[in-house]
Amino acid sequence: MPNLTRRTLLAGGTLMLLPLPGRLFAQGPASGRIEALIARMTIAEKAGQLSIFPDNLRTGPDVVVNPEMKAGKDAMEAKLRAGGVTGLFNGSGVAAGRRLQQIAVEETRLGIPLIFAADVIHGWRTIFPIPLGEAAAFDADLAQRTARASAVEASALGLHWTFAPMVDIGRDQRWGRVAEGAGEDVHLANLLAAARVRGFQGRRLTDADAMLACPKHMAAYGAAEGGRDYDSVELSEATLRGVYLPPFKAGFDAGALTTMSAFNDLNGVPATANRKLLTGILREEWGFRGLVVSDYTSDAELIAHGFAEDGRDAARLSILAGVDIAMTSDLYNLHLPELVASGAVPVAVVDEAVRRVLRVKQAIGLLDDPYRSLDAGREKRDVYLPSAQALSREAGRRSIVMLKNEGGVLPLAKRARIALIGPFGADKANVYGPWAFPRDDRGVSIADGLTRAGASFTTVKGCDVEAPIAGGIEAAMAAARAADVVLLAVGETANMSGEAQARSLIDVPKAQRELADAVAAAGKPVVVLLRNGRALALEGAVRGAPAILVTWFLGTQTGNAIADILFGDHGPSGRLPVSFPSGPGQQPFYYAQKTTGRPRPPGMMPEFTTGYRDAPNDALYPFGHGLTYGQIEYGAVTLGAPRLAWNGTLTARARITNRGTRAAEEVAQLYIRDRVASMTRPVKELKRFERLSLKPGETKEARFTLTRADLEFIGQDERWIAEPGAFDLWIAPSAASGTPARFMLDRA
Ligand code: BGC
Repeated sequence: MPNLTRRTLLAGGTLMLLPLPGRLFAQGPASGRIEALIARMTIAEKAGQLSIFPDNLRTGPDVVVNPEMKAGKDAMEAKLRAGGVTGLFNGSGVAAGRRLQQIAVEETRLGIPLIFAADVIHGWRTIFPIPLGEAAAFDADLAQRTARASAVEASALGLHWTFAPMVDIGRDQRWGRVAEGAGEDVHLANLLAAARVRGFQGRRLTDADAMLACPKHMAAYGAAEGGRDYDSVELSEATLRGVYLPPFKAGFDAGALTTMSAFNDLNGVPATANRKLLTGILREEWGFRGLVVSDYTSDAELIAHGFAEDGRDAARLSILAGVDIAMTSDLYNLHLPELVASGAVPVAVVDEAVRRVLRVKQAIGLLDDPYRSLDAGREKRDVYLPSAQALSREAGRRSIVMLKNEGGVLPLAKRARIALIGPFGADKANVYGPWAFPRDDRGVSIADGLTRAGASFTTVKGCDVEAPIAGGIEAAMAAARAADVVLLAVGETANMSGEAQARSLIDVPKAQRELADAVAAAGKPVVVLLRNGRALALEGAVRGAPAILVTWFLGTQTGNAIADILFGDHGPSGRLPVSFPSGPGQQPFYYAQKTTGRPRPPGMMPEFTTGYRDAPNDALYPFGHGLTYGQIEYGAVTLGAPRLAWNGTLTARARITNRGTRAAEEVAQLYIRDRVASMTRPVKELKRFERLSLKPGETKEARFTLTRADLEFIGQDERWIAEPGAFDLWIAPSAASGTPARFMLDRA
């Protein structure tokens, strides 16, 4: 029985009103059909239903080549005909998809349709901001809409299943995959996980434009030691359950029917062989009825982990732990028949895995209509839709975070003479980000965006991303001197974040810092446009510039979205989903830290307190920070009552005024702190936020309602509990501002 608490219901939110895809799961005659199929399957055919491979059967721009593929095209086609393939991933296109599906349906003994999957992380053709960037919009509805648009396009190209959303919490910015997730905060990650699942899956899973979602990577992949990708994770049960698992639960409560087991070792047991995780928590505690796919060869990697002896052992451990589909390794095809014959794996375990896979295929209507989402008309009609371009631009501008705007440098007058300097000014290769596979040159560079906005500017590269270029600095300085304002486009390339792209120093590379220092000496106001897949440690003239915009990788409409903000056609409204640290060595870093027994007073560096001798504990720009073109003032927090009854509600309000002369979109954030508890608690935790549109001079009230469920945490017995006592509550523009009000949670 799933553990249904108030928390679960809240996490589910409005979706409890929608038909949960889980309920579509076969019962009665439908399940009879699956059982009849299983009864007819040989053990080899069962293993085949549990094996997915990178698509090397198509050619051309529709295929994302996976380098480690061992089987050639002919071998893969033979495997497909023999019933050894449940699905293919990272290839798309309707004509080839129909041909492959026809082989599965007409030429295999049982005719079970293939499932086509892909890493549709932030778009497949039309590219939206990287998920971390989009998280900065603090807007679940936006995330749902971009996921929906991605699914419409990807399903028009014949895809059924996306390996997304990535819901790993990212608290160490050295880890390159921070770019793919929602950042450091649990509450925000929960909301975005659910929203993205809803967006991908749409109204009904059987709709031709619905895609199965796959919250990944289960679990704690983001907590890799030292931020090194694939590295080991040592995590307390409380942090695992209280921080890393909730976004998965939120995704499943929103209806996700699949998940992916992570590469990492979790407290000594690799996630892909972790029965406690994949069966105990996932299925027995949470009641998940969907399927688990391994990550790319993560089952075979049990050998390298020193956890399995060989491929046979790895297959045994994975299936017994609860991994239903082996991705790429082929280990299930190779070993399940013998493992079952020898009694090492009960056939019932294999049958159950096959049942899960067939149920998912049935839930999306594949068993009834193998050619769903393989419609040449839609492939022409629904790709690069104008509405998707407009949404990409909207999402792009709303993902931009203005860290700083001293002296009101921004917005710029369109007639200003601009020097666009830096390796990302005219660049088109790095607008999409680490998990997009550009097949076109539609990406709008910053220079393109300025041109389309009618700006007058010169462009100088100045340096390469990681190396100086001859005469670059001189040319940049000359351009800066001749301009009214400098736009300095610096940061990271797309392949400096994403999978396997950990960085030991999260800085703007040296060549670009030197460029920035030189350009600053020209004495013109500098607006830094950061291109980044993680929080960066800002130094020198980049840090010192009067204005800084965080522009992530914004996707197809990058330059237009940036121009929208630069010239004030739209105001900046994004907020940091990850803290920008004071220095590059300050990692892991996140706002929801514990006080410790020797907390250091803010801004100070007395001896014998927690912290570094050479760096502050504070962020340079905290989680939640982001400025607008207005001037925002927060009033004091007013509580509806000083006490919250055990089963009651508490309202908290604050008046927020725009004292500026331009309209603003403010994101008011509510944080709490449990003052004394039976487990040490973070100094602050985000519990709610609200977006307020404020005209110049306008005041609005941010109003929130809390219940006991918002105060729960994982107790010493590893369950969610709330404890009576004192709490602080802030309504503030970031995690590092505001004055708290105090309330008490009463006993039951
Ligand atoms: C990544 C996954 C991805 C898979 C398939 C792996 O290397 O870790 O996130 O879904 O490849 O492309």
